[in-house]
Amino acid sequence: MSVDFCGLRLAHPIINGSGTFDAIGARHAFGDALHSAFPFAAFVSKTITLAPRAGNPPPRLWEAQAGLINSIGLPNKGLERYMSEDLPELAQLPVPLITNVMGSTAEEIAELLRACDTRKEIAAVELNVSCPNVHTGLDIGADPAQLERVLRSVRPALRKPLIVKLTPNCADVAECARAAQEGGADAVSLINTLRAMALAPAGAHGRERSQSLAWLGGGTGGLSGAAVRPVALAQVAAVARRVSIPVVGMGGVQSAAHAHQFLAVGARLVAVGTESFRDPAVASRIASQLDDEGPPT
Ligand SMILES: Cc1cc2nc3c(=O)[nH]c(=O)nc-3n(C[C@H](O)[C@H](O)[C@H](O)COP(=O)(O)O)c2cc1C
Repeated sequence: MSVDFCGLRLAHPIINGSGTFDAIGARHAFGDALHSAFPFAAFVSKTITLAPRAGNPPPRLWEAQAGLINSIGLPNKGLERYMSEDLPELAQLPVPLITNVMGSTAEEIAELLRACDTRKEIAAVELNVSCPNVHTGLDIGADPAQLERVLRSVRPALRKPLIVKLTPNCADVAECARAAQEGGADAVSLINTLRAMALAPAGAHGRERSQSLAWLGGGTGGLSGAAVRPVALAQVAAVARRVSIPVVGMGGVQSAAHAHQFLAVGARLVAVGTESFRDPAVASRIASQLDDEGPPT
């Protein structure tokens, strides 16, 4: 079951989706038991930005049919406090640590990568490119030419493996994946959440009907969970056909059968996200079921 991923030897192919499992909180709740039965073969941190972010005001979550719309707004304590407060705790996890970062300019991204490069606790970096470029307003990862240009300029700042987490909200995700590979990515991961909107029911949170449009996060949020799985599978398949670097597939994975589907279309690893909120042990079960069953025939 062990998998080679960008030179990291992982015990099995199941990891977490960034931002969907709080390893530090879980450790405080469950103690060392969490470490002896850690569900993931590598741990991906939630997105870290240079400056701290408060995130969006509530409401931040909305249940859609078979899915979840979130508009959390990437709250995080910022690079400096992540390094001093979280990294020592995350380094105690029994699996390699992948730090997920996001910046809105090439300079910001290079600074984040340089900082990660200096810390031996970090095995690899995942770059979240679902972030608007401050100059163009366009998501950095949504335009292949822009993505390749930014990656080429920041890639020298990191000597560790770089995973680029693609945005699904683009015209041609396989072309973005190819651009990421050309720009120096060692792997790509997808899908991030699909742009989505929830309208407030009249009366919710004291709002009148006239105030109800575009309620969540002041506009749009991101859809995840079972509802996105067919879209995710199609995007992962298209990307795996286009690039030669490893692909991390995710989007609505809830069972070993779903994980098999992502592996079958070309993913090297599979990440579990939203489902961990419902059942924090689901990834352990998926990994042990994959192990029992062996590769699909
Ligand atoms: C509540 C929540 C928070 C998330 N936070 C992040 C994040 O900080 N960084 C990131 O790259 N993706 C983030 N994601 C996206 C997930 O990592 C994953 O790409 C997406 O949810 C699809 O997988 P899933 O359907 O299994 O959840 C978040 C998703 C959810 C639901």
